[in-house]
Amino acid sequence: MSKSISIAVVGSGYVGLVAAACFAEMGHQVICVDNDEKKVEMLRAGGVPIHEDYLPELLARHANQTLKFTTDLRAATQASQVIFIAVGTPQSKTGSADLSYVDAVASEIARSIDDYKVIVEKSTVPVYTNEWIRRVIERNGVPRDLFDIASNPEFLREGTAVVDFLHGDRIVVGADSERSSGLLASIYEPLSSGSYYVSEQAVPGFRTLDNPTPVLRTTTKAAELIKHASNAFLAMKISFINVVGNICEAVGADVEQVAQGIGTDSRIGPKFLKAGIGYGGSCFPKDVAAFRYVGEQLGVDFGLLAEVEKINAEQKKRFFQKVRSALWTFRAKRIAVLGLAFKGGTDDLRDSPALEIIDLLLKEGSIVTAYDPAAMERAKAVLPPSDTMRYAADSYAAAQDADALLVLTDWQEFAELDLDRMHYTLRYPIVIDGRNLFDPVTMLQRGFTYLSIGRMG
Ligand code: UGA
Repeated sequence: MSKSISIAVVGSGYVGLVAAACFAEMGHQVICVDNDEKKVEMLRAGGVPIHEDYLPELLARHANQTLKFTTDLRAATQASQVIFIAVGTPQSKTGSADLSYVDAVASEIARSIDDYKVIVEKSTVPVYTNEWIRRVIERNGVPRDLFDIASNPEFLREGTAVVDFLHGDRIVVGADSERSSGLLASIYEPLSSGSYYVSEQAVPGFRTLDNPTPVLRTTTKAAELIKHASNAFLAMKISFINVVGNICEAVGADVEQVAQGIGTDSRIGPKFLKAGIGYGGSCFPKDVAAFRYVGEQLGVDFGLLAEVEKINAEQKKRFFQKVRSALWTFRAKRIAVLGLAFKGGTDDLRDSPALEIIDLLLKEGSIVTAYDPAAMERAKAVLPPSDTMRYAADSYAAAQDADALLVLTDWQEFAELDLDRMHYTLRYPIVIDGRNLFDPVTMLQRGFTYLSIGRMG
């Protein structure tokens, strides 16, 4: 049986809340701190603020027992051996990460330290942030032997965050002292020893694996860099395949075949080689910009990342031109849009390519009717319903009498559409697919005019 450790997690965003719930599931005593009183009340009352598989089950099992919620950072710090900082690090105007929340939390933690604590960065932060946190804590009069700073980045994807946390590819423990490194590694002992299982009864359908997760012990700086470099590399893979897709279109080849061909080389790997309308979300755009900025600050030319960003921006415009090539003019055309979220399986709209494309359609005078299985309510707050921006209850209602159908998010339910029904629902059977959900040959046989990414058709 692993040792139970007292943990505070500061910030109940998607990283903080998922980490807190999973730590409780792993047998630790957890206090999750947020300064949003309403959110804390909601969590105490059994509410679940984000759409994340298995999170409701974990919260139901542990909330108000080994997982407590509070606004009191001081009390949480004093009651805990390890304090994880998981507050937001939004993008500032310069492209750098805005670390003011981390700074504020570090000062407050410092004022509450009276015995040895390990303060761990869990948010995505630029290299050297640990040094700043250390300075802030020292400036507040805390002696150096009463604390250590560590970095323990997360590699969670939205929508599959709980599974990613409990069965990740690796756990990165970045710490500069034996004591902090050992304590942090012992938190993850249930995962690294392979002794942890979510019971099927407690969380029905949860995928359990019996292979232990490797723990990578590094310095704090290396851990900070691992997180930024991982996200930047994945974004680079996506931009790379998107350009290859554009070349495929020019020569009449199929990018799916090319991606498979290069992805079966184990040095490259098959994942994140799906061509589309570009990456979005709350992480890649922000982290690529922040990592590029880190390079700039250090006098290191990381022009490669500027190119990754440029390709990503172009990809949406290119898709829009594809729509133009199918429709000729836009004014008063009725366009059905399937998908608003930045990817399937989430209700998150942050930096969603779909919103950017809808914006271009509306500017050209089109009438858009959109449907998304999870993100409609959020979308209505950003794009309020109007004569030209409409929302439908399902895919077929969105397609009713439309001049064309655009697929902008890779939801599985779109891939499973009844194509014959869709054909007679649309005014013109034109489908422009930004996520390559359909087979071009099948679409042609079913009588569609079908355009997709990096393929003839
Ligand atoms: C990403 C990383 O995958 C996580 O490892 C990381 O922990 C997280 O950021 C973070 O830093 O918090 P996430 O933003 O949830 O996770 O989404 P992804 O599944 O990575 O997708 C990002 C974007 O890339 C989406 O818009 C998706 O549609 C697009 N994408 C992804 C492609 O266009 N092609 C692909 O092959 C894969």
